[in-house]
Amino acid sequence: MDTRPIGVFDSGLGGLTAVRELVKILPQEDIIYFGDTGRVPYGPRSKETLRRYVQQDVNFLISKGVKMIIAACGTASANMTQEIIDSMGVPYTGVVVPAAMKAAKCSKTGQIGVIATAATVRSKAFDNVLKRALPECKVTSNACPLFVALVENGYSDFNNPVTRLVAKDYLQPFMKNPDLDTLILGCTHFPVLSDIIADILGTDVTLIDPGKEAAHYAKSVLQSLNSCNTSEHQGVCHYYISDNVEGFSENAGIILGEPVLGQVEKIEIDTY
Ligand code: DGL
Repeated sequence: MDTRPIGVFDSGLGGLTAVRELVKILPQEDIIYFGDTGRVPYGPRSKETLRRYVQQDVNFLISKGVKMIIAACGTASANMTQEIIDSMGVPYTGVVVPAAMKAAKCSKTGQIGVIATAATVRSKAFDNVLKRALPECKVTSNACPLFVALVENGYSDFNNPVTRLVAKDYLQPFMKNPDLDTLILGCTHFPVLSDIIADILGTDVTLIDPGKEAAHYAKSVLQSLNSCNTSEHQGVCHYYISDNVEGFSENAGIILGEPVLGQVEKIEIDTY
């Protein structure tokens, strides 16, 4: 047994979709969450900038003594390097491989869609894993950067007219393909809008939640290493962000589906 916390990071609030699942499936685990709210969004950044940010995010989590790191961010996962993974010294998962493997398993037609940030779409990270798992598949991708801002600003209610208008536009390429049966929500912010996306695409399209898949993969890794916290303890989540603490708890509570009880602290990520 290993009682150290699990480290989870994202550019902002999206990674909480992974935390929401971790709390459900590993309730005894403590979690250290870092949301880089001072530098969100990651999606439009260059590879070099992203790698610097991601290395600092990882360094911060390591300084907190975590036993595993989850990049609960499609953009960070898609731009991860072996050098950064080697610097962790603890097991790691991103969201790309678990989500793509799940999609490959779910799709019957082999026509799979990916929506993500511009940096993730450009990296072709999802396409590469999908092609390896399902060589005959056809992948259609579309960058949906405005979804990140809509979620960060709490525009996620089912009837929100602004979010619906944006979603209809972004989902056009997928609505045109009647054979498409699986859509990867390739940015961890996007499952927050899954009710709206499902309403537009219809029930024949299976939506893949990358944070959820990464949480399940992390559980299997910890189990295989005998590193789960099997004590009676009720897990606690500590939240760290790189900008204003005000407003974080409210928006985070919407994603988590329950009020934020753990401590929320601001850190200077540039010093890591
Ligand atoms: N949640 C993120 C992702 O999964 C990042 C979105 C952004 O910061 O642009 O890609």
